[in-house]
Amino acid sequence: MATRHFLTLMDASPEELSNMIQRAITIKNALKVEGPTYTPFPNHTMAMIFEKSSTRTRVSFETAMAHFGGHALFLSPRDTQLGRGEPIGDTARVLSEMVDIVMIRTFSHAGLEAFAEASSVPVINALTDDYHPCQLLADVMTWTELRGSVQGKTAVWIGDGNNMCHSWINAARQFDFQLRICCPEGYEPRQDILEAAGDRVTLLRDPVEAVTGADLVTTDVWASMGQEEEQAKREAAFAGLQVSEALLDRAHQDVLFLHCLPAHRGEEISETLLDDPRAVVWQEAGNRLHAQKALIEFLLLGEVHDAP
Ligand code: CP
Ligand code: NVA
Repeated sequence: MATRHFLTLMDASPEELSNMIQRAITIKNALKVEGPTYTPFPNHTMAMIFEKSSTRTRVSFETAMAHFGGHALFLSPRDTQLGRGEPIGDTARVLSEMVDIVMIRTFSHAGLEAFAEASSVPVINALTDDYHPCQLLADVMTWTELRGSVQGKTAVWIGDGNNMCHSWINAARQFDFQLRICCPEGYEPRQDILEAAGDRVTLLRDPVEAVTGADLVTTDVWASMGQEEEQAKREAAFAGLQVSEALLDRAHQDVLFLHCLPAHRGEEISETLLDDPRAVVWQEAGNRLHAQKALIEFLLLGEVHDAP
């Protein structure tokens, strides 16, 4: 059987994704009651390749593997042969001989695909310039935990048409909700990704119009990793798209606010937004651990598990 990878949300079926979300909630609840007693993968190892910085992704994957009875290896290009030009296909073949699963955070999505093509163990996208699917597992999990089924609901993305935005578009397709995207001209998501979503996704320019009646509002930094030099230009382009308490007041009264973090207070969000009870970003960040456990299980066992 071909090795399953998780490079975008389109790599699993809607049913598999929904099962993963439910499974993540079960794993989380069991962890709260019993502690990390569920150890299905003793002596299993995960290679974690980070070509960009990370706090949440690294800690959640490493903790997930430790809880599962396994181990994670942090590999930075600075200290490995990847940084000295060893081809990624060769690295993928070598790692496949030794570890059970690989997680990569990198720039080029095509590079990640090339790695996965050469890998005989499952490969997880831990963020590329184009997608951040693991974050969406945690985001949909958080939304589901707090508000039940997301099917038919309306989410709003405010800001850059970036990797997170692309994954929100894929999530709208896979979990069957409406997505309104509010971005400045010139910062739209990729046309092919947008078109594939059909009428589930709409593009708007006015943030008030976008959030009116919405069930969920989310945003992200205006300059992603690798775009640091565009910070000033982007601050000017995105002025007027800050998410504030007053903007959330225009949404549905049960609205939730999500942010993948790290956040820049005073830029894409108001100074105090994360203190507002509608902002559930700490729960969202914590859910990275549980959602990724469900993903690791899915990839290593080949199905969504229903124990413990
Ligand atoms: N949201 C997220 O992926 O955070 P890190 O960059 O800290 O991993
Ligand atoms: N869009 C951001 C997400 C960080 C988790 C970035 O790529 O830097």
